[in-house]
Amino acid sequence: MTHKPVRKAVFPVAGLGTRFLPATKAIPKEMLPIVDRPLIQYAVEEAREAGIEELIFVTGRGKVSLVDHFDTAFELETTMRERDKDLSILAPTRIEPGNLVSVRQQEPLGLGHAIWCARAIVGDEPFAIFLPDELMVGSPGCMKQMVDAYAELGGNLISVIEVPDEEVSRYGVITPGGKPDGFGGAITEVLGLVEKPKREEAPSNLIVSGRYILQPEVMRVLEAKETGAGGEIQLTDAMARMIGQQPFHAVTFAGRRFDCGAKLGFIEATLALALEREDLADDVRALAVRLLG
Ligand code: G1P
Repeated sequence: MTHKPVRKAVFPVAGLGTRFLPATKAIPKEMLPIVDRPLIQYAVEEAREAGIEELIFVTGRGKVSLVDHFDTAFELETTMRERDKDLSILAPTRIEPGNLVSVRQQEPLGLGHAIWCARAIVGDEPFAIFLPDELMVGSPGCMKQMVDAYAELGGNLISVIEVPDEEVSRYGVITPGGKPDGFGGAITEVLGLVEKPKREEAPSNLIVSGRYILQPEVMRVLEAKETGAGGEIQLTDAMARMIGQQPFHAVTFAGRRFDCGAKLGFIEATLALALEREDLADDVRALAVRLLG
């Protein structure tokens, strides 16, 4: 069966980033760098690796630098050219004209509401969602793995990872069903979804890790603007309503995941990625040894 391809990706980036204050007072948290790339760029590169070129940012006040990051920086580039500097470092920040659209979420009413703000641009197509503070590192990338599974399964897909029991209450959690044959055992049917359950009520320790491929019908569910956990309009609740009506599967990502929405995850990602960089690894290792000694 052929399914409509996933061509569009929504990046909800309107959050206030209060966990990283004061760093995020004047810059978006998605502009915080891991080594030398801002978080948003990792997510955009992951989308493009999966063949998704049409990018939709759901932003808020004070977030224009996220759009600027993917624009031409005329003065910078002119000066670099005059000084014979290599501009290839900027290549991943170049977007085909017309392929980046931003809409605003005027009030912080929840992730579900942020996604609903993109409804007119998403239209009647399946679409991907990336939460940029979940940094997924691997080859193939998480979304590429999901798009490949989607080509066979269609319907709705979310990425999941296993976390220790004491962490489940911070996330969306799935009720896992059976595993369809193939895909190296990475696919699980989703029988239920709950947002931020109490530890003792969580149906499993498989959490939703910030990557989604959803059918456009989810926008109609979100239209009802029902509130859930924390009094917010939750994407998890809207997805839960689609289970049973459309195929719904989870993909266990084969790579590594860093929760960069938390300080420890952010520091871990910085160290892990620096230690993998050819130009930095030896010096960073020596530095770590010195600091620990
Ligand atoms: C959001 C989602 C949650 C998901 C999490 C991943 O929660 O609502 O289902 O597990 O992202 O980071 P938030 O981080 O906005 O509280």
